[in-house]
Amino acid sequence: MTGSAITGWGKCLPPTVLTNHDLEMLVDTSDDWITSRTGIKERRISHVGTAELATVAGFRALAAAGLEPPDVDLVSVATCTPDMLLPSAASLVQDRLGAVNAGAVDQNAACSGFLYSLITASGMVQAGIVESALVIGAERLTYFIDFTDRGTAVLFGDGAGAVVVQATDEPGGLKGSRMGSDGSLAKLLWAPGSGTATDRVALESNHKHLAVEMNGPEVFKKAVTAMGDAAAAVVEQAGWALDDVDILIPHQANIRIIDATARRLHLDPAKVFINIASYGNTSAATIPIALTEALEMGRVEPGARIVFAAFGAGLSWAAAAYEFGSRTEPLGVSDAELPPTDGDVMALLAENFAYFGGGPDR
Ligand code: ACO
Repeated sequence: MTGSAITGWGKCLPPTVLTNHDLEMLVDTSDDWITSRTGIKERRISHVGTAELATVAGFRALAAAGLEPPDVDLVSVATCTPDMLLPSAASLVQDRLGAVNAGAVDQNAACSGFLYSLITASGMVQAGIVESALVIGAERLTYFIDFTDRGTAVLFGDGAGAVVVQATDEPGGLKGSRMGSDGSLAKLLWAPGSGTATDRVALESNHKHLAVEMNGPEVFKKAVTAMGDAAAAVVEQAGWALDDVDILIPHQANIRIIDATARRLHLDPAKVFINIASYGNTSAATIPIALTEALEMGRVEPGARIVFAAFGAGLSWAAAAYEFGSRTEPLGVSDAELPPTDGDVMALLAENFAYFGGGPDR
């Protein structure tokens, strides 16, 4: 088997910011509650669709890898918020990138989706099925958030992150992986009006069913156990001691879940990457955004032993032990940008308020 290496990385965060203080105008909450119970201070709201966010992140990751779009064999997009049901977000991204030699496929495992895609793409590279894959996590989850529901309104944000996985003769790459699901707990976190099980007539009279609904405390309990167990399992599978782990890059849903996962691995807090304060939970986009920031900040050394762990709707979870390659500097920089917006967050959310109700004048 060949090795696999992450050779490119990039992120795309839409510029419009929704702060905790903005949320105080929308629901009965406070900056103090959100900060102390979740670790989140602000999140981004997108003025473009998921595929656009994914495309910009994809261009940036390809440039960092020194590749042109036609060099890529596979475009894999992890998302639970595609622009539309058909075609896949990946097909839209493949076209916008000009990745004319690539297959394109979406994977939906909600917040765990990027790790599912990273594990499957790395496995395909290591098995020789493809030589290179662009793996993107991209979400516009705030489209499905009812900003009158304080249980979900404060948690989520939009964004995209991407990596390039390539075949290599170097040692390293994916050393351990776990993927899990318990579909019997689907109703703990779902958007019941978003698919073909929907009674369209009933949805007309109750728009709330299109929104993400969550039983936060029950999801929280399961997340702590499943993420911790999966992370510990991949360290063992990789043949590493817990001390060998250089950095934990966890899904960023709640600072208390991150702390519990780190404690399970007996990790020094200095080895845990946390950016939840700036972006909230961007679902499948979270881990590639965090990895890109960790690289930009010099937190990933050549050959670093990384543990990724995620948890989300499904319920689903995944973890990966990844030995990073010898290059942690990008080979190139892309000039891809999102179209401009004036950054007025309440104006951007006006359509959401018109649909679900609420708004600053509630
Ligand atoms: N502002 C103020 N008060 C609030 C808010 C809010 N935004 N939300 C809840 N409260 C209140 C509740 O009403 C309750 O009040 P009460 O004690 O008077 O009844 C109190 O705060 C405690 O509520 P809990 O729901 O028990 O709060 P908890 O500490 O569990 O935090 C949270 C809630 C942040 C949602 C947490 O449960 C959580 O992070 N859950 C996991 C989320 C997650 O991991 N999701 C998976 C990924 S998402 C995906 O896959 C798309």
